[in-house]
Amino acid sequence: MSYNFSDKIAFVTGGTRGIGKSITEKLLEYNATVIIAYSTSQKDADTMCRMAGAEGKKLYALKCNVADPSEVKAAFDYLEKEFGRLDFLVNNAGITKDGLVLRMNDVQWQEVINTDLNGVFYCTRSALKLMLKQKYGRVVNISSVVGMMGNAGQANYAAAKAGVIGFSKSVAREMGSRNILINVVAPGYIETDMVSGIPETMKSRMLETIPLGRYGNTYDVANVVCFLLSDNAGYINGSVIDVNGGMY
Ligand SMILES: NC(=O)c1ccc[n+]([C@@H]2O[C@H](COP(=O)([O-])OP(=O)(O)OC[C@H]3O[C@@H](n4cnc5c(N)ncnc54)[C@H](OP(=O)(O)O)[C@@H]3O)[C@@H](O)[C@H]2O)c1
Repeated sequence: MSYNFSDKIAFVTGGTRGIGKSITEKLLEYNATVIIAYSTSQKDADTMCRMAGAEGKKLYALKCNVADPSEVKAAFDYLEKEFGRLDFLVNNAGITKDGLVLRMNDVQWQEVINTDLNGVFYCTRSALKLMLKQKYGRVVNISSVVGMMGNAGQANYAAAKAGVIGFSKSVAREMGSRNILINVVAPGYIETDMVSGIPETMKSRMLETIPLGRYGNTYDVANVVCFLLSDNAGYINGSVIDVNGGMY
């Protein structure tokens, strides 16, 4: 599948690593202008921009901690000033701080909610202001299979990711009449830094629950995100697309 996104401006949070990096690569392949937000990975962001520039692609990077509403506001003010519009928002940035609920401290709870749920709200709210003016927009939020099935040791993450689904379905009802569509992609187990610390025994137990018999890769997710951003998905709104190999 190939798309022509050459007239599109896209903002991808957490675009420097893992799933976000592959979404960024795919959007560049389809000739979108892409702005990635990073929190700590400035070096990776700079390298990506340099490499993309050398290939004639338009990639820009912004320091934007999505958990901080003032940084999000500053990033969107910059976007409006520099690019004048925003067509695609991909809320991909996410973290985990795992622990059984009885032992989970307030910081573990709040950091995950602030990044994985509040960050989606801050970025979407700012993006909608731009999208409303142009009467066009596509938002894709990255949730997780954990937001639907729960997972022992991830009550904070599951709450945030389930919240993203409820949030997106509500915004879909508010914005559909304005030609702004918002959908959710819920990945299963995708091999990235986020899951690299999971012990091998747990990994192999998890593998047994995946009917396809393999973990997902970052492009399995990126391809679905690009489809949802494209005109081919023009009648999909408020949906959750599972990318989990059938595990749920
Ligand atoms: N991997 C999986 O199995 C899996 C499954 C289901 C859902 N997901 C979801 O998919 C998304 C991407 O996950 P991943 O596996 O690709 O994770 P990853 O490899 O750990 O990368 C996380 C990305 O998020 C960025 N980020 C983290 N906190 C941020 C903040 N406060 N502000 C801005 N950026 C921030 C990081 O940027 P910096 O490096 O600059 O901090 C990094 O680019 C997440 O929402 C995750 O919950 C992943």
